[in-house]
Amino acid sequence: MTAIRVLPQLLVSQIAAGEVVERPASVLKELLENSLDAGASSIAVTLDEGGVRRVQVEDDGAGIARDELTLALARHATSKIASLDDLEAVSTMGFRGEALASIAAVARVSISSRARGAAHGSAVQCEGGEMGEVEPAARAQGTTVTVNELYFNTPARRKFLKTEATEFGHCDEVLRRIALARPDVAFSLRHNGRASRQVRAHSLAERAAALLGSDIAEASVPIEVGAGGMTLTGLAGTPQAAQARADAQYFFVNGRFVRDRVLAHAVREAYSQLLHGERQPAYVLFLRLDPRAVDVNVHPAKIEVRFRDSRAVHQFVRHAVERALSPSAATAPVAYATVAAGHGIQASFALAQPVAAYQAFMASAAAPLPASEQAPPLGFALGQLHGIYILAQNEAGLVLVDMHAAHERILMERLKKGIDDGTVARQRLLVPAVLSVDALDAATAEENHEALERLGLEMAVSGPNELTVRAAPALLASGDIAALARNVLKEIREFGAAAVLSGRQNELLATMACHGAVRANRMLTPTEMNALLREMEETERSGSCNHGRPTWYQLTMADLDKLFLRGR
Ligand SMILES: Nc1ncnc2c1ncn2[C@@H]1O[C@H](COP(=O)(O)OP(=O)(O)OP(=O)(O)O)[C@@H](O)[C@H]1O
Ligand SMILES: [Mg+2]
Repeated sequence: MTAIRVLPQLLVSQIAAGEVVERPASVLKELLENSLDAGASSIAVTLDEGGVRRVQVEDDGAGIARDELTLALARHATSKIASLDDLEAVSTMGFRGEALASIAAVARVSISSRARGAAHGSAVQCEGGEMGEVEPAARAQGTTVTVNELYFNTPARRKFLKTEATEFGHCDEVLRRIALARPDVAFSLRHNGRASRQVRAHSLAERAAALLGSDIAEASVPIEVGAGGMTLTGLAGTPQAAQARADAQYFFVNGRFVRDRVLAHAVREAYSQLLHGERQPAYVLFLRLDPRAVDVNVHPAKIEVRFRDSRAVHQFVRHAVERALSPSAATAPVAYATVAAGHGIQASFALAQPVAAYQAFMASAAAPLPASEQAPPLGFALGQLHGIYILAQNEAGLVLVDMHAAHERILMERLKKGIDDGTVARQRLLVPAVLSVDALDAATAEENHEALERLGLEMAVSGPNELTVRAAPALLASGDIAALARNVLKEIREFGAAAVLSGRQNELLATMACHGAVRANRMLTPTEMNALLREMEETERSGSCNHGRPTWYQLTMADLDKLFLRGR
């Protein structure tokens, strides 16, 4: 044991830096936030070697007065708050007065700045906590902070840095987040001497298109809702913009990018009826609320927040997103491929009617019409196209149905109802399905016997590495039972039976339905096809499949007339 002693200032700062300055991207984040707090309207970022060699941020903000320049680098020195009251209502990105001091403890930092109204600029350098002299500098209003040789004096940390490409990727993501939050500010990014990004000040839609790609920006609906002292604005991607990966999900609270379970969950719930399986929604959302209702001082890099009333926030966000995505929202643009495209025909008309018909059907599907009182909305089958699509004739014209997707949706809704009411009909399999499994799968099957029965599956260990499925849900009995059983086991293994039957039920049912649904290339009789159309009419939300894609299109007679240039 050694005696207790007070640590030297530099070491204290280096320890603190460990929390804030994790990698070059964290330096960039702090510098960008400072520039925004200074009211910059244009910000230029220069990086070398993924930011490890240099991170430089130049802004045209308010600047720093000459006699405050060294203070900017001192620990616990900030111009942003002065009291606990200020802290509780903080509206700036920074408030700790620590970032620059921490960065200066582990890198070579220089700042040059000219404050608004000042006759001259000035500059100062700081290396490993050693402050240089303040010198005059010729420059325009604003501030340039340059951070060279990150971790030059802390080699142990330098070892944790990843490749240049990885570090640059993190920096780019930081810039993307901040640039999405502030479309009113122009940003540019250079890496190793080459221009990498440049966005001018514009609307959010334009910014989102520039940073996330036009696909997402086009297939999204604008949100602008206010209630109970909160507002939610931004863009919510339609199911067409959904992706396999969750990397186009941006949520900002009072302008700050955050990762928050309450918010993420609220959005997931809002999408749950539209997206199942592994599809991830894309969104850029901004929640604004009284700063006193949210604590931002809970994470060193301020990426997490704590809401005073998280239930109210959850409800508000969920409803706001749900409403914006609902088919009756008149603003919802839905991306539609044209039938003609597949035939190499230049289709120059917009399929406005099908969109309207689709939306009308989506809306009516919530309250199914009694099919007997009128011609059936989806009409009667004419035939099957390449084993994939059903063609049907209805009053308006031609209906095209994605057979597998539609069937999948119907099965999913039926299974859901069955499980909710505890009435999943089971069917004994004529030929039991045998699957080879590992010990963990076998144990999972034994331990979760009851949960599996609720799902309509009866399976038992039948050998050292073998499970036999003897009964399956009647709805799915003609599907690929072995694959189905395997997937159900996998879900239970990963998430536990309780979660699979409650929170993750939609994901599970979507998987099950997929294995039970008619495969492409199965020839259907006209009776089967018509039965499918009638079931679609009676199934809630049958207008889009479990992955959020449309299950059918309407081509009206007018659309066809235009396609064939038939004058009217
Ligand atoms: N680009 C800039 N333009 C104008 N002033 C700046 C700039 N960067 C830093 N400053 C000044 O330096 C001070 C210290 O910055 P620093 O980032 O260390 O702390 P902070 O932003 O106040 O709080 P935090 O540690 O939470 O970021 C700021 O309060 C601000 O007054
Ligand atoms: Mg700061």
